[in-house]
Amino acid sequence: MAVAGAGGVGLAPRAHAAAPAASLPALSSPADRNYWRAVQRLFMLDKKVLFMNVGTVGSPPEEVVATVDRVHREVAIGAKSGYSDFADVRAVLAGGYGCDPDEVVVTHNTSDGMSKVLAGLGLREGDEILTTNHEHAGGNAPMAMARDRYGVVIKRVEVPVGNDQRAEDYVALFRAAITSRTKVMLFSAPTYKTGTMLPIAMLAKLAQEHGLTTLVDGAHIPGMMAYNFHELGVDFLAGSAAKWQCGPGGTGVLYIRNKVLSQYNPNPLPEFWPMISSSYPAEGGLPPRSSGSKESYDIAKYLQSVGNGSIAVMAGVKNVCEVWDRIGRGRIQDYVLGLSSHLKDLIVERWGVQSLYSPKDDPRLVCALTSFNPFRDVNDVLDAKKSAAFVARLKDEYGIVIRNSNFPVIGSSAEHVPVRVSTHLFHQSEDVDRVVDAMWELSGKMA
Ligand SMILES: Cc1ncc(COP(=O)(O)O)c(C=O)c1O
Repeated sequence: MAVAGAGGVGLAPRAHAAAPAASLPALSSPADRNYWRAVQRLFMLDKKVLFMNVGTVGSPPEEVVATVDRVHREVAIGAKSGYSDFADVRAVLAGGYGCDPDEVVVTHNTSDGMSKVLAGLGLREGDEILTTNHEHAGGNAPMAMARDRYGVVIKRVEVPVGNDQRAEDYVALFRAAITSRTKVMLFSAPTYKTGTMLPIAMLAKLAQEHGLTTLVDGAHIPGMMAYNFHELGVDFLAGSAAKWQCGPGGTGVLYIRNKVLSQYNPNPLPEFWPMISSSYPAEGGLPPRSSGSKESYDIAKYLQSVGNGSIAVMAGVKNVCEVWDRIGRGRIQDYVLGLSSHLKDLIVERWGVQSLYSPKDDPRLVCALTSFNPFRDVNDVLDAKKSAAFVARLKDEYGIVIRNSNFPVIGSSAEHVPVRVSTHLFHQSEDVDRVVDAMWELSGKMA
């Protein structure tokens, strides 16, 4: 069956003559090259460069660019205003992410979502946030503000790196660090440093046992992983819509648990204020949060309606989620994880398993970000300048874009600075072979 017609999902209206025909052939097998090449053609990414840094930013399909362009023009021509709670957009997102429209907000990005959650929680002096030493500034900055403003205490578990970990190890680390003052567990899944997918549902269970609020920095989850947000059992998850989800720049997805579904998380909803809102009632406040399986009010609406929004950008977010749903989020996850697994196998063949900072063998910990030490002399991974030169030369000499990242490693006095490769929908296994060959050759030149 043609995927474009699956489940009665229709094609988005053609914006103008330049819009691509976004139909896809039938998929004959999960690795059907013909099908995945057609998916690749949905994107307008420059083919002269092999772009493998989706963890920083994605690239919207041509259909989505056309939608944003068309709606921008309609807005200009009609002088349309965007005072809206964008319920239609949130309904599409909710379907794709396994939650309800009252639980999902289109934000500006992950950092915006993290900030809104940390500012909206009822944190007080002495409350502890339990987090990791591999967090991004998108979480670190609002945590630091909560510390400096309210006297909140930030405690960090040191996360191990590489392939020797099991999901249970991360749970044990967090469990050992919980105290009677812990109020919030905040962690990235995956971490952007090593591409380790911390086991969200297992950590959420742990948090539930201790009555803690969970906030996941899930910058890389939308568009990469086919998670059902309800099933994760977390209170909040902030992600990007412009990385793996390939939506317009400046967009993010924020999930807010807004009802008590006891099979996933029986705990009461935490105190939470929609801090940035222009629809919060002038008098009377909001009703108490729900204690049952039906929401008592639409919390997402309050966070979504903030002054005049961009109708065009919101149309683009909606459209890209429709494209993802049309292909199938489970199918996308399998494809991108399949490419990263192929990449890790090749890295292990050439550099050995010890070169990996990402996990490989526990399926609960893997994602489509792969981080490893590309240097023939393993100690060169401590050399930030050499790592930067490696990334720059891979671009200049091989036309391949990746990135590096620096982070503490248990037992090392200096930070490690390995490289990170993202595998996504617009890649084929040949691209993975190519980046591995190029990195192997370059590491030989730089030895
Ligand atoms: C784990 C993590 N959190 C937050 C961010 C910030 O993302 P955004 O630009 O969507 O705010 C990033 C960006 O790479 C990230 O990797």
